[in-house]
Amino acid sequence: MGAGQKSAGEGATAAVAEALAPRQGSMAGLGPRAQELAGRVAVVTGAGQGMGRAIARRLACRGACVAALDLNLAAVQETVSGMEEADAEGGGRRGHAALACDVGDSGAVDAAFERIEAHAGPVSILVNNAGIGRAPNDGSERMYALMAKRNEELAVGGPARTHVDHIPFMEDAGWAGVLRVNLDGAFFCTRAAVRSMIKADRPGAIVSIASTAAQSGEGPVHYVTSKAALIGLTRALARELGSRGIRVNAVAPGPTNTPIMQGIPEQWVRDMENTIPLGRMAEPEEVAEAVCWLASDAASMCTGAVLVANGGSYFF
Ligand SMILES: NC(=O)c1ccc[n+]([C@@H]2O[C@H](COP(=O)([O-])OP(=O)(O)OC[C@H]3O[C@@H](n4cnc5c(N)ncnc54)[C@H](O)[C@@H]3O)[C@@H](O)[C@H]2O)c1
Repeated sequence: MGAGQKSAGEGATAAVAEALAPRQGSMAGLGPRAQELAGRVAVVTGAGQGMGRAIARRLACRGACVAALDLNLAAVQETVSGMEEADAEGGGRRGHAALACDVGDSGAVDAAFERIEAHAGPVSILVNNAGIGRAPNDGSERMYALMAKRNEELAVGGPARTHVDHIPFMEDAGWAGVLRVNLDGAFFCTRAAVRSMIKADRPGAIVSIASTAAQSGEGPVHYVTSKAALIGLTRALARELGSRGIRVNAVAPGPTNTPIMQGIPEQWVRDMENTIPLGRMAEPEEVAEAVCWLASDAASMCTGAVLVANGGSYFF
């Protein structure tokens, strides 16, 4: 391929980005779905960047009042300011909120939900999106160094003699650090949202962002475990909460073009995209669309589901 030419994957990504772009900041193009979440209060965790930001903005585009939570207050304020501009364009104001909150801190989560209820009313939608792939003292630096060595052995024709060990280097704190955010955080937020729904005696929708890694097993051991557990949480709660009209689902993205991906060597990204039947990673807005659908009444008979948004790499 000559310089300046785009691969099929790159061309498709550009086309998708172009098609989605007008909808990120305005309601243009949404048609009858523009107000399908009107009157709902939606909480999105990890909404300061990446998928969480795209999800928060898309829920707002569909008419929800959004409370965007993140460790990084400045980032989440930026997310919300984009939503307010879109509201102004559409002629209304819904009072979206940006809150600093560590989802792994149960007291902080309860306090954030109290503030949201006082400000906007009972919660109808929760998106458990906050997630991390590594934590201090989790041995991942040594594991990635071994992986690079193995890749070098393979690149010169093998054989690959290096074992990509991770668990021997993982300290208790490193394991707990990832589980604390990805699993405990989802539990704390889900419990707070369900209490709000029950108190208001209203139905609701909870969507957790799992990962294709839960199915493929590819990824750091604590991360994969946390995402598989999130699917267990989803299924158990779908059964428990069905009688109340509270639906609980998960979206399992594959590799998605968020800031996390920008730290990965370009060649690794290309190699990974070559294994995806659709030939490219997802844009955050494509995952956000799947989340919005599960959160909306259009998915009224779906609960306990795992909606795969990974271009066909793995199926649940
Ligand atoms: N990007 C991918 O390829 C991919 C693939 C599958 C699943 N996922 C999952 O999707 C979700 C979003 O991923 P992303 O790529 O947008 O990530 P990201 O790192 O770009 O953004 C994550 C956001 O979560 C926030 N956050 C981290 N810890 C937090 C905490 N304790 N409390 C509150 N907020 C916290 C961060 O500040 C950040 O704004 C994660 O759960 C991730 O595991 C991502």
